[in-house]
Amino acid sequence: MGVVGAGPAGLLLGHLLHREGIDTVILEDRSREHVEARIRAGVIEQGVVDLLVATGAGQRLRAEGLVHHGIELQFAGERHRIALSDLARGRTILIYGQTELVKDLIALRLDDGLPLHFEVEDVSVHDVESERPRIRYRHDGRDQELECDAIAGCDGFHGICRPSIPHGVLSEFSREYPFGWLGILAAVAPSNDELVYAHHERGFALLSLRSPELSRLYVQCRPDEDLAEWPDNRIWEELQIRLGLEGWTLAEGRILEKGVTGMRSYVCEPMRHGRLFLAGDAAHIVPPTGAKGLNLALRDVRVLAEALVDWYRSGTTTGLDGYSETCLRRVWRAEHFSWWMTQMLHRADRDDAFGLKLQLSQLAYITRSEAAATSLAENYVGLELV
Ligand code: FAD
Ligand code: DHB
Repeated sequence: MGVVGAGPAGLLLGHLLHREGIDTVILEDRSREHVEARIRAGVIEQGVVDLLVATGAGQRLRAEGLVHHGIELQFAGERHRIALSDLARGRTILIYGQTELVKDLIALRLDDGLPLHFEVEDVSVHDVESERPRIRYRHDGRDQELECDAIAGCDGFHGICRPSIPHGVLSEFSREYPFGWLGILAAVAPSNDELVYAHHERGFALLSLRSPELSRLYVQCRPDEDLAEWPDNRIWEELQIRLGLEGWTLAEGRILEKGVTGMRSYVCEPMRHGRLFLAGDAAHIVPPTGAKGLNLALRDVRVLAEALVDWYRSGTTTGLDGYSETCLRRVWRAEHFSWWMTQMLHRADRDDAFGLKLQLSQLAYITRSEAAATSLAENYVGLELV
C-alpha cells in the first residue's frame, strides 16, 4: 500500500495495517519537525480514543489526555453546562492535542522500523484505474517510483491525490464562511475546567485547553485576517470581552503560538476512484466549531483499514466497494452538525439583528430543552446514529 500524507489519517492507517501484517510506505512532503509542531485540533471522541487504545497507539494519550464529561455554552452574559455524558449514553470526550497524537504515531512507526519518508518532493499518482497504481516522487535527490496494490490519499485538503482524479468523476459540495478563527496557545493554567463555546455580539470565542499548564483559545476573526494587526494585548482584550462573565476572570499568559484558520465545509463524492482511496481532509472539510475534523479523519481510516484487511486476506471487495458510502453517512452528519454549530455561534453580519435574535433563541432552547441538548451532545461526542 502506498500512503500519501503523514497527518493523523495516513499515520493511523499505516499503524492499523501494520498490525494486520500489511506493508505500507508513507510519503510526506513536509519535514518531521514541521509535522510535529503543527498545532491543530484537540478534542477526540471516546469512540476514537477506544480505537487508539485498543490498537496500542493510546498509551500516552490515556495517561496525559483529559477526560471531559461536559462543555459549556455561553451567551447573553450567562454560562450553561451541557452534560455530554449524561445526555449521550455515558460517552465522554478526551482533550489531547492532535500534535501529540501525531508525535505518538510517528514514534511508533519509526520504532518499528517502518518506511515513513519526510520531505519527499513532486509526489504524483498514476494508473489508479489499473491493478498496479504507482506513486512517483523525488527523495534524497533521486526520482523514485512505488508500485502499489492500492493508494490511500491522506494528503489533506491541499494535497495532490484528489486533484489527480479526472474531471467529472467527483461531485463536490461546499460552503465558505465569511470568518475564520484566530487561535492561540498560551502558557497559563486554563481558567475553566471545561471548554466554553461563547456567543457574543462581537463574535464567537472558544476557551479550550491542552494540559493543566496550557490554554488554547480562539476568537472569531476575518478569514484573511492579518496577524500583524493582532498584537498579544489585542487578542487578550478581545478574549476578555467575549468570554467575560460576572465573578470570573480569564487568566492571561505568554502566547506561545498564534495562527489564523479559514473556515469551509467541503465534501467530495465518492471518496474513491479505482484503487485510489481518499481519507480525512483530502475528501472532506468541516468548520472547526463541532471539533469533528480530526475525528472524521481517524474514523475514515478505520473503515478503510478493515476493508483492506478483508481484501488482502480473502480477496473480497465488499468492504472497499462500500468504503465511500459508509464514510459519507458519518461525514454528512458531521457536516450538518459543524455547519449548525457554526451558524449558531458566529456573527456573520454585525448588522443582522434578526439573525442575532434567532441565535439567542436557539441557544436558550438548547439549555432549556433536554431533547435539544441531547441532540447537541449526541453529535458532539460522535454517537454512531447514522
Ligand atoms: P492533515 O492533517 O492535513 O494531513 C495531511 C498530510 O499530508 C500533511 O502532513 C501534509 O503535509 C501532507 N501532504 C500534503 N500534500 C502532500 C503531498 N503532495 N505529498 C505528500 N504529503 C502531502 N479540527 C478540529 O476538529 N479542531 C480544530 O481546532 C482544528 N484546527 C485546525 C487548524 C488548521 C490550521 C487546520 C489546517 C485544520 C484544523 N482542524 C481542526 C482540522 C483537523 O486538524 C484536520 O481535520 C485533520 O488534521 C485531518 O487529518 P488528515 O490526516 O486528514 O489531514
Ligand atoms: C479545540 C478545537 C475545536 O475546533 C473545538 O471545537 C474545540 C476545541 C481545541 O483546539 O482545543
